Amino acid sequence: MFTSTDMEKIFTVRLSEDGHVEIIDQTLLPNEVKFLKLKTAESIYEAIHELRVRGAPAIGITAAFGMYVLARQIPDNADFYKELSRLGEYLISSRPTAVNLSFAVKKMLSAVEGCGKEAALPRLYEECNAIYNEDRKMCRAIAENGLSLVKDGDGILTHCNAGVLAASEYGTGLGPLLLGKELGYNFKVYSDETRPLLQGARLTAFELFNAGIDVTLICDSAASMLMKSGKINACFVGCDRVAANGDVANKIGTRSVAVNAKYHSVPFYVFCPSSTIDFNCKSGDDIVIEERSPEEITTKFFSKPTAPGVKCFNPAFDVTDAELITAIITEKGICRYPYSASLAELFGHQEVK
Ligand code: MRU
Repeated sequence: MFTSTDMEKIFTVRLSEDGHVEIIDQTLLPNEVKFLKLKTAESIYEAIHELRVRGAPAIGITAAFGMYVLARQIPDNADFYKELSRLGEYLISSRPTAVNLSFAVKKMLSAVEGCGKEAALPRLYEECNAIYNEDRKMCRAIAENGLSLVKDGDGILTHCNAGVLAASEYGTGLGPLLLGKELGYNFKVYSDETRPLLQGARLTAFELFNAGIDVTLICDSAASMLMKSGKINACFVGCDRVAANGDVANKIGTRSVAVNAKYHSVPFYVFCPSSTIDFNCKSGDDIVIEERSPEEITTKFFSKPTAPGVKCFNPAFDVTDAELITAIITEKGICRYPYSASLAELFGHQEVK
């Protein structure tokens, strides 16, 4: 167990005073707490691609800080905006599914369109901090909105990690649980492992346990029987991209949880900040799903490889159909099906037909 002093030192991502993007290396958790300082485009790309920093809002914030750090290093004689755009495209290509990454890069670029380096740097500094602070505020509001959907003593199933480590303060899907704990709620949380990279076992269980929340680790495949037993009152997940019709991309296995929840009449709630909603994607069919290396399934967490020589399919995300989702909880409020209408109304968009 980590001491409370250890836990206080933990942060997901920040801009260090000496001009680096600083992250906790999540691939080492929960066994080792190590912070990394990133200064080159390649190291920021690598950290996002290898999931040293992960979770949709957190990779957006990392890219925003990264753009500022990289902008400072652009030579004075270069075409500043062109070079910054190239670096932004490079960072976006590190992971394709979470829209927060491109959202943050585009926000940084639009803050300095037409500016030279000297004028751009203070604006970029302001913008990346604004993205970070906005995320903190959104996480808090999401946590408050989510808490209104559950009651003290409820059993909650969660998939992957949508907590502090995936965003800024509170996170999204774990936000109501962390805020609820502060307010004296006693939830009984079941964290599924989340194969193959074990974000549930390594990160969610770590976060909740150290926050003093009653958390029980289960294999992904135990979720269905738990729902049948009546121990689960609601499922809480984060997400990487919400399409205009309410289809939601999140960690692989999310869809199985949602299908099971529907069968057992357990509410299935998705939590996200507005930076995760992509009105340019009409439906989940438009969302690019990242595929990752077979070694993550066969080798990474085993002392000997399983299934040597056998081909593998390792999608990092799946799309949960809008019909399976009881509500989408954002910082602005709670949307219900049909989401094409409720999301458009809440965010003042034209409904996508
Ligand atoms: O591959 P990961 O660990 O980046 O996947 C993360 C998730 O799927 C989270 O649920 C999602 O990004 C929401 S985080 C607030």
